Order: sequence, then C-alpha cells, then structure tokens
Amino acid sequence: MARHNPSEDTLSRKYNIIGEDVPETALFEGDALVSSLSETPRVIKSVYYYDDTGSELFERLCSENNYYLFRMERDLLTTNAKAIAGQTGPVSLIELGSGNEEKTTLLVEAYVETYGPTSYTAIDINHSILERAAENILSSTSDLNFLGIVGTYQTGLAQTKELSGRKLLVSLGSAIGNLYDEELYSLLLSARAALSPGDYFLVGIDLDKETEILEAAYNNQMAILGNLCVLQHLNWRFSGNFDIFQFRHVAFHNKSLQRVEAHLEAMQAQSINLQKLNFSFQLEKGEMIRTEIMRKVELHAFHDMFIEYGFHPVQHWTDSYKRYAVCLFQLSGQPTKFDSEAPLSG
Ligand SMILES: C[S@@+](CC[C@H](N)C(=O)[O-])C[C@H]1O[C@@H](n2cnc3c(N)ncnc32)[C@H](O)[C@@H]1O
Repeated sequence: MARHNPSEDTLSRKYNIIGEDVPETALFEGDALVSSLSETPRVIKSVYYYDDTGSELFERLCSENNYYLFRMERDLLTTNAKAIAGQTGPVSLIELGSGNEEKTTLLVEAYVETYGPTSYTAIDINHSILERAAENILSSTSDLNFLGIVGTYQTGLAQTKELSGRKLLVSLGSAIGNLYDEELYSLLLSARAALSPGDYFLVGIDLDKETEILEAAYNNQMAILGNLCVLQHLNWRFSGNFDIFQFRHVAFHNKSLQRVEAHLEAMQAQSINLQKLNFSFQLEKGEMIRTEIMRKVELHAFHDMFIEYGFHPVQHWTDSYKRYAVCLFQLSGQPTKFDSEAPLSG
C-alpha cells in the first residue's frame, strides 16, 4: 500500500496516517455481509459497530457504571504498565483496534519513560479514531513516533512487517473476544506471520463470570443504542432500509459457548433491501439477527489456545476478583502445526 503523501494541512502534523486511500469496499466487504446475513441465524459481524456514531457510543458505553471491562483494564494498566515495559525491554508497539487512546497512553508513557523515544503503530478500521488518538496521545507524550494504519486487523498487520527491532503487538478492550473462532485463529496466524520469534503479544481479555454481571454490562442504554446503530451503519453504507424502531435489542449470556451474544429481534415481519449490495431478504416477526459475540474465557484455556499458535505465556495480571486479565505472550521460535500455513518471518 502506498504511503500517504503529506498534503499542506498535514505538514504540521507530528504523525502519519496511511491507508486513507484504501477503498472502503476493501475494508467493509459487502460479499461477506451478504453471506453472513444469509446464514441461519443471520449474522452481522461486529466490525459494523464502528462507524463514527458507533465508535462514539462505544466510548460512552465504557463510562457506564456496569460496563466494568474498561475500568478494570485501565486499573490493571495503571498499576502494571511499567512492569510490562520491564518484561519486554524496548519495543515498537503495534496496536490492533486502537480505539479510545486512554488506556494505550498509559502503556505508551511507560515505554517512553523507561526507554525514551518509542514507535507506536495504531491499526483501526475507523480513520477518524486514528486522527483523534494521534492528537490525544501526542499531547501527553511527545517522544513518540506515531503511525496510524487505516485497515482491518489483517491488512494492517501485513503492513507492519517492515518495522525493525523487537515488537509488542497489543489488543485491548477484550476486542479479540468479538471474533468468531475462524476469525480469531486467522488473526493469530497473521500475528505469527507479522512478528518474529522473541516478539511479544499483550492481550486484554474478559474472564467468564456470573451471568448477572455479564448481562448488566451489555443491557445498559449505551449498549442498546450501539446495537441498534449497527442497522443505521448498514443503511448509510449500503443504502439499506432497516427501520431501527422495528427492532429490539436482546443480549444474553450463552453459558455453554462462554460468550455474551447481542442480537436484534425483528418486532414485525419485514422486507430488507441493501440496494448497493443488490441483496434483499425477508425477516419473520421474532427473528433474531446476531450482531456481536463477546467471549468470556477461562484463563488456562485462553493460554492453551495461544500456546497452540506458538505464543508462550510470560505473565498475566488480573484484579482481585479475577474478572479481567491482561496477558503477555512471547512468540517462540519452535515450529507449530501451522508453520506450513504461515511461516515465521524471523
Ligand atoms: C472493542 S473496541 C476496543 C477499542 C480500544 N482498544 C479499547 O480498549 O477501548 C474495538 C476497536 O477496534 C476497531 N475494529 C473493530 N474491528 C476491527 C477490524 N476487523 N479491523 C480493524 N479495526 C477494527 C474499532 O474501530 C474499535 O476502535
């Protein structure tokens, strides 16, 4: 992908954002949406939460009292960012789905304070989020070389191979918990391909817990609005005719699959048409469209999954109730059964 050419208005910026020229159709693949909406039950992938409205609603969700994830992760990073920096030594940071920069700033500051000027690459599908994150992080930490990549986790990671030196890949906000199995495995393979043995992966992940706590976190006002706004996103992006007043938010703890699921239930039978995708379908009254999954993991099983992909647990940090964890992994040079699919780069 071509590097972004600084234009007049960007010359004074202390950061660079690339990928602004990537066609949106490459980021939000309509074909994939058509096939997920044709499944039983119908599915809309969580990436559709994050247009500008959805990103703002997610940020507001993070300050809801019962949405404990944000505060717990922020507390863990406030207390342990320096220890994380101490474990890894100097690194280039690469963040997947950087979103709100508040927690990242804690991490970045720990590296700058410990090792001096640091390089930080933020990958996010939402361009405005990257602009804002750059302005805000740089206003508190100037010793930072900030590169934003507008892209998906996969396309963004593919562009980080040129970075030299030890790397720390970061995923916060339990964001990888929104990925379905095949998406998560594919992300782990892409991470292996983008990193070299000895590089690190820091992952914030929500742990399985009581249904009452989980369901409260995903049934507050901001969670409901955010879910309904997925339909608005599809309407403007694909010229759709969803009427959000004809849907009801439903989120519940699916204990056997260890995840919370968010759905939109059709309150009337209706015909949906996404003009730009040349795709129509009929929804029955009471039919549910699954819009998001939020994995709630057991720590040992989570570690085992990373080990299978060659990432060895170094250390993890949890709160006293073991509700949330920040886990540090290191990529080993040992071959795994996936090596023919994504050979290690270093
Ligand atoms: C759950 S939010 C987490 C944000 C932030 N890391 C935090 O901890 O608050 C997910 C972020 O990842 C971005 N995102 C979601 N799916 C993505 C994808 N497939 N590729 C790139 N970015 C994605 C969204 O725009 C959003 O900023």
